[in-house]
Amino acid sequence: MSRHDLVLALDQGTTGTRAALVDASGARVAEAYRAHEQHHPSPALVEHDPDEILASVRAVLAEVLGTVDPERVSGLGITNQRETIVLWERDGGRPLARAVVWQDGRTAERCAELVASGAGELVRVRTGLPLQPYFSATKLAWLLDNVPGARGRAERGELAAGTIDSWLAWQLTGAHVSDVTNASRTLLFDIDRLDWDDELLALFHVPRAVLPDVVPSWRPGGLALTTAAGPAGRELALLALLGDQQAALLGQACTDEGDAKCTYGTGAFLLVNAGANRPAGVRGLLTSPAYQEGGEAARYCLEGAMAVAGRAIQWLRDELGLIAGAAETAALAASVESSGGVRVVPAFQGLYAPWWEADARGAVIGLTLHSTRAHVVRATLEALAFQTRAVVEAAEREGGMRVGELRIDGGVSGNPFFAQTLADVLGRPVVRATDAEATVRGAAFAAGLAAGLWPDVAALAPLVGETELIEPRWNDDRREAEYADWLRAVERALPDAT
Ligand code: G3P
Repeated sequence: MSRHDLVLALDQGTTGTRAALVDASGARVAEAYRAHEQHHPSPALVEHDPDEILASVRAVLAEVLGTVDPERVSGLGITNQRETIVLWERDGGRPLARAVVWQDGRTAERCAELVASGAGELVRVRTGLPLQPYFSATKLAWLLDNVPGARGRAERGELAAGTIDSWLAWQLTGAHVSDVTNASRTLLFDIDRLDWDDELLALFHVPRAVLPDVVPSWRPGGLALTTAAGPAGRELALLALLGDQQAALLGQACTDEGDAKCTYGTGAFLLVNAGANRPAGVRGLLTSPAYQEGGEAARYCLEGAMAVAGRAIQWLRDELGLIAGAAETAALAASVESSGGVRVVPAFQGLYAPWWEADARGAVIGLTLHSTRAHVVRATLEALAFQTRAVVEAAEREGGMRVGELRIDGGVSGNPFFAQTLADVLGRPVVRATDAEATVRGAAFAAGLAAGLWPDVAALAPLVGETELIEPRWNDDRREAEYADWLRAVERALPDAT
């Protein structure tokens, strides 16, 4: 086998970590996965143990690297859950607390105070984001204020902070870096200048000294960083860093303006490539860098983040006990002709895009004595499609672009009832990638572009592999009536609903 014909990709996600070795055809030749624990000290809090994540990263890297001749691996691309924040000691790298995860709502009140003080507009203009607890800044400030002694130590330069890419890069290479896509999700980063913003640092009380240097997502030749005593005792070049939803955009080869993908994992994240210019005046959706190749301008994307997707199916199984497993939901939903008037709004952790109502709560309405678990399961899957439609329409309205088809990936995309319903609700074709792991594929693409395995992003489309085209079947009347009915249910889930 030739030298350097493989890249190693790592996807450190919310619920687990996947490593894959990918060859020049885009195929995965080896793969390993480890789940990690979710800590919920109380219902609104979500924490991860940074050391447990690191151990699982080392384990999956070692496992896949053990399957091939090391000479074949040109380096590593990392993609990761975004916004989740870690605070650690520069001397020795010990985390000072558990990571505060993107889903964690502990700073909801602080964000509401800042919005009430009028800070929201500055934040939106500089960062492309609404001032919400989802993002890292208020979580980091919370850690600095609540871990004894942390603020003083941070100001003296003894502490480092960063999103998961940064934590892993530090541990694997010793460098304190983060890429533009991850940095852009902190609320501290100016997405036009691609740099930390002093006014935002002051607003959120975050000392610049704790933050990493920001680098492009990949650079031809790599990021000039090498893993010290690398996984499995080997040195590896760090080639790329990229937030996971941006990685999935690349992994679906959405490299032209208007190309859109939605990844259905725990939550769902719809991203539309917005080209080289940041769309102006966007509300309801997030604007972020999609990726930046070293030496080039950043590409931007519009994003509709939906807090709950696969987690709703888990809720049907674990909390409600309506199903034994996700696999049965497609047949169960298809066993009834409609949801029988049942509507589900999965706003369990508030509603994200395009509403951004942190205090909204989930709703199941329209129940009658004829309602069965099949209706509730069907209404839950339909809800994931309806919220996707709300985001697609917002992207078209706000970004002034037309989304022709939607490429889908992630666990729930494999549910045939859901994929068909999505096409029906959207009234446009859905393209499902047979290989649903677009995120890890995107990390491999970024690493492979850095390593010269592929010449440029235009070469990625044929590497995505087999896809299935799903055409809409509902007529316009049904599509509009069902959607309007669901939007009425959303009204009932909003905080001021009576
Ligand atoms: O913004 C949060 C997102 O990056 C998490 O993605 O796939 O780990 O749930 P995932």
